[in-house]
Amino acid sequence: MFMPVGTQGTVKGLSPEELMGIGSQIVLANTYHLMLRPGEALVAAHGGLPGFTAYPGPFLTDSGGFQVMSLGHMRKISEEGVIFKSHIDGSRVELTPERSIQVQEALGADVIMAFDECPPYPAEPQYIRASLERTVRWLERCLSVKTRPDQALFAIVQGGVHEDLRRQSLQATLPFATPGFALGGLAVGESKDEMFPAVGFTAQHLPEDKPRYLMGVGHPEDLVAGIALGIDMFDCVYPTRTGRFGYALTDDGRLNMNSSAPRQQLLPIDPDCDCYACRHYTRAYLAHLLRAEEMLAPRMLSLHNLRYLHRLVERARTAIAEGHFFPWAREWGGRYFKGQR
Ligand code: GUN
Ligand code: ZN
Repeated sequence: MFMPVGTQGTVKGLSPEELMGIGSQIVLANTYHLMLRPGEALVAAHGGLPGFTAYPGPFLTDSGGFQVMSLGHMRKISEEGVIFKSHIDGSRVELTPERSIQVQEALGADVIMAFDECPPYPAEPQYIRASLERTVRWLERCLSVKTRPDQALFAIVQGGVHEDLRRQSLQATLPFATPGFALGGLAVGESKDEMFPAVGFTAQHLPEDKPRYLMGVGHPEDLVAGIALGIDMFDCVYPTRTGRFGYALTDDGRLNMNSSAPRQQLLPIDPDCDCYACRHYTRAYLAHLLRAEEMLAPRMLSLHNLRYLHRLVERARTAIAEGHFFPWAREWGGRYFKGQR
């Protein structure tokens, strides 16, 4: 499945009704952002994320460590946790495994993530090793303070793109037998030629009967490649972000709605798509809205792009069930890359 990103408790520009309408199954929200603003107590006062956001489906929250590294200032990492300056008001905030679980329990997501360290890319192997060992100790601390039996905590396997370090992280993490496992530390700037072997190696060693979640991925071709390597769950800001910039995802590659051609095209973005935008609007109308800087344009492109990725994984799921995933994937890729040129 593909999880739309709702960092602030909203998938940018879309209502819960629209998300349910395009087949979103679970929304990702962020501990880091919501603990800083509005604070987890206010979310808890609404009965958790579903009450606060009015999205009635499941949620997954990321643990915050990754966001501290990418957004926080003046962060200091120690065995205890991370100290950073809030990107909102500059105040000093501490995030530890215990605090992350406390916040995630207050936010009330169905799936919560272990508090981990995602090393930057590139990093020295010695650093990645020390960091993955600490991530395992942090996992232990997360599990020991977790109180809600109705939340599934997923462990995160680290180790960068190095097979020996991935193996070490796997060997230390698998015994915790969490209900799902994530692949972390990837899609952080390394090449696809480095990332996919690490994905394949890690996925190979994860249990067959538990979900495998590749964090922060990705583009349509990364989903198809990830599924081929045994990944079950993905999240990425890509469909909504690229939609806000005026790009539409199709089986023939990414369509630039800011270019001149769509302005005269009296056909939907994607005739095969069943989203509201494709059932009602021409490319010409949407390109006009985009040029006029009307807010319906980024909304409709986000809606379409998310539906495209949901449909893409639905098609992959069907192809797997019917036993022809690899021929389907090759055919999909042939057309997608041909269109992209
Ligand atoms: N999102 C993308 N990569 C990561 C990661 O390595 N850890 C966490 N917690 N979130 C992520
Ligand atoms: Zn559409």
